[in-house]
Amino acid sequence: MIRLNKYMAECGVASRRACDKLISEGAVKVNGKLVTQLGTVIEETNDTVICEGRMLTPVRKNYYIVLHKPKGYICSVSDEKGRKTVMDLIDVKTRLYPVGRLDYDTEGMLILTNDGDLANALMHPKHEINKYYKARIEGSISESELMQLRNGVVIEGKKTAPAVVRILEKSEDFTTLEVVIHEGRNHQIKKMFETVGKNVVFLKRTAIGDLRLGGLARGKYKHLSPKEIEILKNMTE
Ligand code: URA
Repeated sequence: MIRLNKYMAECGVASRRACDKLISEGAVKVNGKLVTQLGTVIEETNDTVICEGRMLTPVRKNYYIVLHKPKGYICSVSDEKGRKTVMDLIDVKTRLYPVGRLDYDTEGMLILTNDGDLANALMHPKHEINKYYKARIEGSISESELMQLRNGVVIEGKKTAPAVVRILEKSEDFTTLEVVIHEGRNHQIKKMFETVGKNVVFLKRTAIGDLRLGGLARGKYKHLSPKEIEILKNMTE
C-alpha cells in the first residue's frame, strides 16, 4: 500500500506536492475511476493509475547502501540454520545483494545494492578494487612471515596476489595489522595468516576502494550520497 501522490512521484510524474495538485484537479484515475481525494492509498502491484491519459509505471529505483556489519550476521538473504542475516538490519523492501561477503564472525564495511550490474562489476577480479582490513592475530609475527604474506602465499593451490600487510599495534598477546587485498577469495585473510601459522581472532573491513566505513556505528547503515555512488561506479572503470 502506498499513497497515490508518493506512487506518482516514484513514477517520475512530479514532486508529491505537484502530484497532489494534479489529483485535486481531476487529472488522475485509479482503475478507471476518477480520484480527487488527497491522501488516497493504492495497492501499487494491483492498481492501475492513469495520469493525464498516461498509464504510470514506477521508475526502477536503485539502492546503494553501506552497512557496518556486526559479527554474528551472515551475508545472505536467508540462512538454513536460522542465523541472523544482514537483511535483518536493513529496512529496505527491495531485494538487495551484498557486494562480496564477510564471514559470520567478521565485521565492517559491506556494500549492498539492487544494481546487479554494478554489484557484479565491483566483484569482478579484473577491477582489482582494494579492500582494507584490520586483522588481529594471536601472538607476534616475524618480518619474514610478513614478507611471505606481502609477496603472496599459496591457498588451495593458488598463490595470492601481492598484498599490503603492515603492523599497526603490538601487545603482549596480540598483534594488530592492516591488510589490503584486491582479491576476494573465500576466508582469504584468515587463510593467508593460517599459512604462516597465525590465528586471526578479530577481522574488520574498514574500506573498499576510496570509500571508508568512517564513523558509521556497528549495525547501522546509510544510503550512499550521489557523490559516493559516483566514486563507487568509477571503481569499475
Ligand atoms: N577474509 C576473511 O578471512 N574473512 C572475511 O570475512 C573477509 C576476508
